[in-house]
Amino acid sequence: MDLFDGVPATQLMEAGQGISYDDFIVLPGHIDFHHQEVDLKTQVTRRISLGLPFVSSPMDTVTEHEMAIKLALLGGLGVVHYNNSISEQAEEIRKVKRYENGFITDPIVLGPNATLADVDAIKSRYGFSGIPITEDGAARGKLIGIVTNRDTEFEPDRSKLIREVMTSELVTGQAGISLSEANDLLRRSKKGKLPLLDSEGCLVSLISRRDLLKNRDYPDSVKNERKQLRVGAAVSTRDEDRERVTALVEAGVDMIVIDAAQGDSIYELKMLEWIKGEHAEVDIMGGNVVTRAQCARLIAAGADGLRIGMGPGSICTTQGTMAVGRAQATAVYNSACLARDHGVPILADGGISQIGHIAKALGLGASAVMMGWMFAGTEESPGDYFYDNGIRLKSYRGMASLEAMAAGGDKRYMTRADDRKVKVAQGVSGSVLDKGPLDLYVPYLVQGLRQSLQDMGVRGITHLHTALIDESLRFERRSHAAQIEGGVHGLHSYKDAGQA
Ligand code: IMP
Repeated sequence: MDLFDGVPATQLMEAGQGISYDDFIVLPGHIDFHHQEVDLKTQVTRRISLGLPFVSSPMDTVTEHEMAIKLALLGGLGVVHYNNSISEQAEEIRKVKRYENGFITDPIVLGPNATLADVDAIKSRYGFSGIPITEDGAARGKLIGIVTNRDTEFEPDRSKLIREVMTSELVTGQAGISLSEANDLLRRSKKGKLPLLDSEGCLVSLISRRDLLKNRDYPDSVKNERKQLRVGAAVSTRDEDRERVTALVEAGVDMIVIDAAQGDSIYELKMLEWIKGEHAEVDIMGGNVVTRAQCARLIAAGADGLRIGMGPGSICTTQGTMAVGRAQATAVYNSACLARDHGVPILADGGISQIGHIAKALGLGASAVMMGWMFAGTEESPGDYFYDNGIRLKSYRGMASLEAMAAGGDKRYMTRADDRKVKVAQGVSGSVLDKGPLDLYVPYLVQGLRQSLQDMGVRGITHLHTALIDESLRFERRSHAAQIEGGVHGLHSYKDAGQA
């Protein structure tokens, strides 16, 4: 007797009706391994691999440098929004790049005639206070001292000159030594920072004890070959954003996301081809698209990854307003089928509000998921917490909500600057519950996802995709009654322990 219950994904999708994550269920497989063994490593674009399949949305209530830093440390990737000026967005990228370096090659320095107030300003902007002092205040100048918290913290007069408080007895290393040699020197010196100098005594780079400790705490962090955290940034399809792309590339961005609600346009194709021609070193995520034909066009134009979703977002009103879009599970499956043949990973974007949705998106062929709602309300998302009836909340808004559009977010939805006179909202603005720090939240998602894949009987994302293709991964549609049966029902009241 045939032991395969349920149907393979091809059949699940056959009826011609768009389905969403909640419309189906994955049948369990055989477990012969521990869930800790489940491998969540994946690709987000052709050249960028991640430790975890989590990417944060380029939205002004979701991703700036704090989100991007913490997600990359934990194994995911943040995509910084562009509801800001070019220099502000590039600065967000630089903050991520500066955060954790093996060698900090562009350290912030001051001259001896700067004041303690200048040190305070750097501390509040970047979060660190150990600053090398060069003779002329230039980045590559002759090193004459260093100021640290210990030199400055008990000094009431913040107009005092640095030359009066800095430490001039320095432990330094020779530029050119290896990172592990530099780390050894730093460890032995018991100092917070180790400046590395050329033969003339000029500052070349710096390593920091805090980075050493961070490396220890975040073994799975996602970094480039220079040991900098990876980060993505969104841009619009407009010609005027070419300047933005160039500034982001100069700031060190790893992935450019061309952000358009309907990504299959001549505007996006032109932007894609231009970036490919000018900045071949950076990977490009095209989108958003939901059909095979759309995917094929973006891949032909050179997209290194595709962002899939039109209308499933928690804050989104696109499908109602525009009458265009696609149910997300169907969109992810069809796009993945096409993209797989070209070796292009796909990112399932929007509509994820439970760990099970992440697992289902991956099970339909996505290599990673992009999440707005799930990461909104965490400590690392932009904005302050506020209370409503004693409940701790943060704002979360669609980039096509009237509020976000007023601040510039309409670039994603309107392709030419003069389209912007009349605004049709495709999103709403609201609030979400406090989800706490990512350091606690992401491990919770990881544990849940590992257990989910274990229940399916697969040892990782690669194995999951193999099972999808060889049809050993089995699915079943859920009737309306089955969906009710699969959720909590019949209780007078209950407490929901988890947000996701
Ligand atoms: P969520 O994870 O379900 O909250 O969806 C987040 C995704 O919704 C984002 O990554 C965008 O693709 C999309 N999105 C962001 N702002 C808007 C909007 O105002 N209208 C429609 N979709 C949006």
